[in-house]
Amino acid sequence: MREIQHPSRTVETAIQVNNLSFFYGATRALESVNMSIFENHVTAIIGPSGCGKSTFIKALNRISELEGSVKTEGEVQLYGQNIYHPQVNLNHLRRQVGMVFQKPNPFPMSIYKNVTYGVEIGEEKVSRSELDNIVETALQGAALWNEVKDKLHKSALGLSGGQQQRLCIARALAVKPKVLLMDEPCSALDPIATMKIEDLMHSLRNDLTIAIVTHNMQQAARISDYTAFFSTDESRIGRMVEFGETKQIFSFPVDTRTNDYVSGRFG
Ligand SMILES: Nc1ncnc2c1ncn2[C@@H]1O[C@H](COP(=O)(O)OP(=O)(O)OP(=O)(O)O)[C@@H](O)[C@H]1O
Ligand SMILES: [Mg+2]
Repeated sequence: MREIQHPSRTVETAIQVNNLSFFYGATRALESVNMSIFENHVTAIIGPSGCGKSTFIKALNRISELEGSVKTEGEVQLYGQNIYHPQVNLNHLRRQVGMVFQKPNPFPMSIYKNVTYGVEIGEEKVSRSELDNIVETALQGAALWNEVKDKLHKSALGLSGGQQQRLCIARALAVKPKVLLMDEPCSALDPIATMKIEDLMHSLRNDLTIAIVTHNMQQAARISDYTAFFSTDESRIGRMVEFGETKQIFSFPVDTRTNDYVSGRFG
């Protein structure tokens, strides 16, 4: 793997992945992934269908364990703490490392309750006025406040797809995560809704760290600071082939497989 040099700035590592392998039952889906996800930056995960992108990001907050008989080897450190340590509290971990999925999945309840859900199931008692504050801040943060401020108690299911996705982002932001994982968050959205989410990612990285899976090469090039290219060989096992600054991956990829993929010859 190429080393990343940052001569002009110091970049903190939010997540460090060391030799991560992942199995569904006896089938290995990922082999020995090593990479860093840098704080306050956007990292894009790209690669052909089935190469393990979703598996990889779901392993970063252990949501992968909800898929039944799975096994993880290696280490994922969140600010130096291994999230696979037996004493890790999974609720706490998933608040620190939030996730937004491909298909918007608002809960069948009001817009307000969607945003406060994670806060209300937490251990601390939060007053009504604090909740009001959290809702406004999270919806502002997700660039949805102006569109919904007059209908906070209406069902979230009445929103458009793009609004629902921003609501899911607001729901994730409400518990103040350190890292936000996004798995193809725009693939079900029209170009205008997509642009709003892209703008949002750009501003959110001032406060948190984002890892996003995308099939859209232009999107990866537009929004990310770093890019990781994943692929499989005949064995169907996913591997991280190349990681670097996005400019380098798209303009001067080192590996021919990366070059073929980013230039549209494959995948
Ligand atoms: N719940 C599961 N049980 C068994 N195998 C799975 C499961 N989820 C994914 N896989 C397998 O693991 C491999 C990686 O899948 P994954 O969903 O991570 O790929 P992906 O890169 O996200 O693909 P796509 O771009 O199509 O979303 C595939 O071979 C897939 O069939
Ligand atoms: Mg996927």
